[in-house]
Amino acid sequence: MIFKNKFIKRFYLIPILIFCGVVFIFWWQDFWQTQQLLIAPSESKANIALHEPIQPITLQLELNESKVKLGDKLFHEPRLSGDNKISCASCHNLNIGGTDRLVRSIGIQKQLSFVNSPTVFNSGFNFKQFWDGRAETLEAQAGEVILSERVMGGGSWLEVINKLKQFSKYDFWFRELYPDGITSDNIKDAIATFERSLYTPNSRFDQFLHGNQNAITEEEKQGYRRFKSYGCISCHQGMLLGGNMFQTFGLFEDYFSDRGKVTKADFGQFNVTGDERDRYAFKVPSLRNIVLTSPYFHDGSAETLEEAIKVMAKYQLGRQLPQTDIALIIKFLITLTGEYQGKPL
Ligand code: HEC
Ligand code: HEC
Repeated sequence: MIFKNKFIKRFYLIPILIFCGVVFIFWWQDFWQTQQLLIAPSESKANIALHEPIQPITLQLELNESKVKLGDKLFHEPRLSGDNKISCASCHNLNIGGTDRLVRSIGIQKQLSFVNSPTVFNSGFNFKQFWDGRAETLEAQAGEVILSERVMGGGSWLEVINKLKQFSKYDFWFRELYPDGITSDNIKDAIATFERSLYTPNSRFDQFLHGNQNAITEEEKQGYRRFKSYGCISCHQGMLLGGNMFQTFGLFEDYFSDRGKVTKADFGQFNVTGDERDRYAFKVPSLRNIVLTSPYFHDGSAETLEEAIKVMAKYQLGRQLPQTDIALIIKFLITLTGEYQGKPL
């Protein structure tokens, strides 16, 4: 009798277990579906970029190739300058990182620029142009320097256009692309389109962001971690690690009184807005291809990356970094050198 009782008791357990099982299966399905919704379909474990404060540079941009070609010619055209000697490429040499590697650039009649020339590579992604952000677009930027007496001294648009018209090839090329032929707007449009083509994707760091864990070494990863943990990332972030905000130079200590010889160009964004809060504020520069573009800072005062990082740590973060960490950050920065037209810069 005792045996029979036990058997019946166990028999009753079976429907209860089945019920629990069914409830569990329904709950699991629901849970699983919510998880799938939370993880967007395009997101795979491999795509590290989605969780990082830095995004890879777009691999492919749709641009009008004929405009790019014409813009390339104009970018290298000294006839845009007053003395027919200076082109954009004089100060933005594409073979040396899109700069001139000088502390200050040499303009028409050997006049020195007030600030260091930034690279033109990836400039199409900047939220504004120039250190002080005074040009909203690449078109406005190009228009300013062609006419500027200090940079290219092109004189007036009429003079520039007449000079280009003397070369029947330009007349032909422009007419093929623009119904109104050679005009100031069309010159600016072609140059700006060419500049937008100067993007440098596929750096080793971007390959890492795209999911290739082996694209950068363990030390380079450590450098990236330091870059984030010290707070460099708070200003140098996004696709360019810069180019998307203004920041005061000298947040923790007075950079300019330490350096001395303050000029108007050191006032930065203040020169554009007249707002006292913008004095000494500059567009945070991009760190893409940074090993190629020394000297550094708007005043070209840092010759090496090591110097630049020490200055940044001191004045922007109020810290002194151990030599080993500086070396690691430099290793990380080297991984940011990308490719132009499929070839490493
Ligand atoms: C004499 C040297 C020189 C010439 C010639 C020159 N530039 Fe520059 N370029 C500079 C300097 C210096 C700056 C920084 C000026 C500033 O921020 O006030 C600059 C800034 C720029 C920027 C802004 C980049 C950024 O990150 O803010 C772009 C884009 C640019 N130049 C494109 C051109 C184009 C296009 C031409 C030809 C039409 C040209 N430059 C001619 C020296 C030159
Ligand atoms: C509070 C914002 C801020 C922080 C934090 C910051 N930076 Fe900068 N960084 C800037 C600004 C602004 C400039 C441009 C300064 C100038 O030349 O006027 C700059 C310039 C640079 C340059 C020179 C770029 C060039 O093309 O000339 C390098 C390199 C650099 N930063 C690296 C770093 C590193 C590494 C760290 C962390 C140790 C860091 N920055 C932290 C705002 C910041």
